[in-house]
Amino acid sequence: MRVLIVNGPNLNLLGARRPDVYGETTLGELEDLCRRWGEDLGIAVETFQSNHEGAIIDRLHETIGTAGGVVINPGALTHYSYALHDAIEAIGIPVVEVHISDVSSREPWRAESVVSPVCVATISGHGIDGYRQALEHLAGLEP
Ligand code: DQA
Repeated sequence: MRVLIVNGPNLNLLGARRPDVYGETTLGELEDLCRRWGEDLGIAVETFQSNHEGAIIDRLHETIGTAGGVVINPGALTHYSYALHDAIEAIGIPVVEVHISDVSSREPWRAESVVSPVCVATISGHGIDGYRQALEHLAGLEP
């Protein structure tokens, strides 16, 4: 199984941005961990990060026929991007939404996710281990 891990806006600053909230692991370290967790689960992990909504949508479209699932942390796009909602719905493969922080216990505007309804699961507040849990979830869906 091939899985694409997508990190959205500002997640390139992991490790430096609000380490009190998002931890000290950098994006590169997180992506390496995801590849390793994937290996343990028999999943070939590809990674992608962009600060641009359109680039994320283009990359999601490329998963059609090429990937069995997606793990996405859409960053702040989570809370308002109906275009991302529609892209996730359109690709027709299981997508797991991940948030490093617990979005339900922060500012009220973070509590709403417009992508949750089209994701097969949402994992929030488990730190970077949420990405491992998301990969496990996708591995468990395999026939
Ligand atoms: C985040 C939570 C979002 O509200 C925020 O905009 C992010 C990161 C998280 O991983 O906790 O950029 O998705």
